[in-house]
Parts: sequence; structure tokens; C-alpha cells
Amino acid sequence: MATVDRVEIEQAQKLWQPQPGWLNTASYGLPPEPAWTAVQDALADWRVGRTSWEGWGEATERSRAAFANLVGVPVADVATGAVVSQLLAPVAAALPPGATVVAPEVEFTSNLFPWLVQAERGVRVRTVPLAKLVDAIDAGTDLVAFSLVQSADGAVAPYDEIVAAARAHGALVAVDATQACGWLPFDAARADVVVVGAYKWLMAPRGTAFAYLAPDLRDRLRPDAAGWYAGEDPHASYYGPPLRLAADARRFDISPAWFSWVGTAPALDLLAEIGVPAVHEHNVALANRFLAGLGRPPGDSAIVAVEVPGARERLERAGVRAAVRAGRVRASFHVYSTSDDVDLALNALTG
Ligand SMILES: Cc1ncc(COP(=O)(O)O)c(C=O)c1O
Repeated sequence: MATVDRVEIEQAQKLWQPQPGWLNTASYGLPPEPAWTAVQDALADWRVGRTSWEGWGEATERSRAAFANLVGVPVADVATGAVVSQLLAPVAAALPPGATVVAPEVEFTSNLFPWLVQAERGVRVRTVPLAKLVDAIDAGTDLVAFSLVQSADGAVAPYDEIVAAARAHGALVAVDATQACGWLPFDAARADVVVVGAYKWLMAPRGTAFAYLAPDLRDRLRPDAAGWYAGEDPHASYYGPPLRLAADARRFDISPAWFSWVGTAPALDLLAEIGVPAVHEHNVALANRFLAGLGRPPGDSAIVAVEVPGARERLERAGVRAAVRAGRVRASFHVYSTSDDVDLALNALTG
């Protein structure tokens, strides 16, 4: 089975053109050929005014359906937007005054600031080390917010335990799966909210994002950013009252950034074809090859962070692109990464 997956991944890799040494999908993912071509075609049409815009807009609906399929939720529960923080904003605004949010302390700020800006309404954010998150959820917790995979070091959160603790205490669960969705299989429907920025592991252009919004929660939120695209029928929502918003999660949509969505749909279709379990196996194997080469024990993530003296200069000299922060190398491995990429980095860091 593993061999079959490897062959399929090798076949699929022909659809990317990475320069050797790209180990930074945790910053941005690289587009597969069908996504790249679709964007070039749309840009060429735009340049000369060859088409009307509706076709570009349809890419948003294709992307929404593909995302729903990828994470196993009804398409009616998926809202589309531009960035993670924007999609979390209505959830934060609906917290009751004085509510308590519990989150990991090194959480990426797009999943912290939306809660923190509610301080003037008495919303309190309590941060704890990720390892203590489950125990920190108690009767006083209204919502737990966390990344399924941490941006800084690739730590995979104990999703099942967090959900169980939250349910036991009646707390809502808001997951940022930006660093997970696309390589880590997970069941989005167990949470109340799952937000995903698509420009990393979903290999989309910057500017597209999704939110799974559970129906029960959704009914308590106000779509403050609603415009024509949030209408029940967007194309019958151009002018004039009354308010006529979509009944489902689409009422939280914002108007689509056309060209980014044009590139998002083919990337999602391809990911579904390859299959997230195969990508998971490939990515974690490469991450563990990297860890082994540095004498570290294996892990369970596609993102790893290790301390290596002089890492920045060593990697730069070898042409390896990874994130280096305070002497720590954060390397991330995706479907288009190869063992040659890993070995290039290892030679640079250990040679
Ligand atoms: C976990 C996580 N969430 C969100 C983002 C991006 O957030 P936004 O879409 O608000 O720019 C990043 C970017 O690094 C991230 O690592």
C-alpha cells in the first residue's frame, strides 16, 4: 500500500515545478500546473476583456464544494472569505459579554486577535501551554480556540481530547486548520467552527479562505460584512432593499477575489484526486527523514522545528528556503517535496 502511494505521489509530483530546496509550505504552498494554468488563462482574459466575470465567480462555488468534500461537511455549512481572522470575527462578536476564551499561548495571532479585540465587551482570553489546553477547559470556558497544527513548531493538537473536554463543559470549539488542512485527515464536523486559509497546504493563491460554521452556532451570528455576494441569489442581489441573505453559511461570504479563486478550485480538485491520507504519509515520512538526519526522534507532523547553530547562513548558502527564527529551523514538507530536498537541507545543516 505504501509503495502504491509512493508511485502515485511521484506521478502527481510532475504537476509542480519547485526549485530544489523549498521547505516552507508552512509559509505558502506552491501551485500545481492546473491551478497555475487556470490563473494565467483568467489573467489573459482579464487583460483584453475577453470574457464576462461570472465564470471567475463560479470558481468560488467549485472551491466551496471541493473544500466541503475534503473535510467531510455539508456544502451549505461552508462560508468563503479572504483570510482567517475575517472569518472568525463574527464568531468573536457573538460571544456574550464577559465570556472566557481558552487558547494555546503561542497560537498564531489570526486566531487570537479576533477574540482579544472583544476585551472592551469584557471577553477574556486565557492562554496556556498547548500541552495544558485540555486541562484548562473548565466550567468557566465559553470557547476553546486552537490551531489543529501549530504554525511555530508543527505540534499537532489533541483534537479528540479538546473536543471531549469542551463538550463536557458546554464550551464551543473553534479550530484554525490552516496548517493542517491538506495534509492531516480530520473530521471538521466535530467542531463548531473550522477556519482554513487556503494559500498554504491547499496550494491556492493568497486571498481565499473557508469557514465551516455549524448550523446551531451560525444562527447566533450576525453577518456584519454581508454584501451582494451574501444574498440568497447573489445575481438577484445587486440593488436595493430588502435584505435578502442566504439561508445557509453563504450569508457570511464576502465577494470573491476572482483570480485567487480561479487558482483555488483546481488545486483542491487535484488534492482530492491524490487523497489526503497519501499526502499525510508522504509529508510525515519526509519530515521524519529530516529529523533522523539531525539525530532527532521521529514525530507526527509535516512541520518540524529544530535548533541548529548557524542555520540561517548554512541554509542560505545551500539555497534551501526554510523559515529560521531565533536559531530554530522550521521546515515543512508537502506533496511536491522530495527526499532530495531533505538531503539538500541535511547536507547544509550537518556538512
Ligand atoms: C495557523 C495560521 N492561521 C492563519 C494564518 C494566516 O492568517 P490570515 O489568513 O488571517 O492572514 C497563518 C499564517 O501563517 C497560520 O499559520
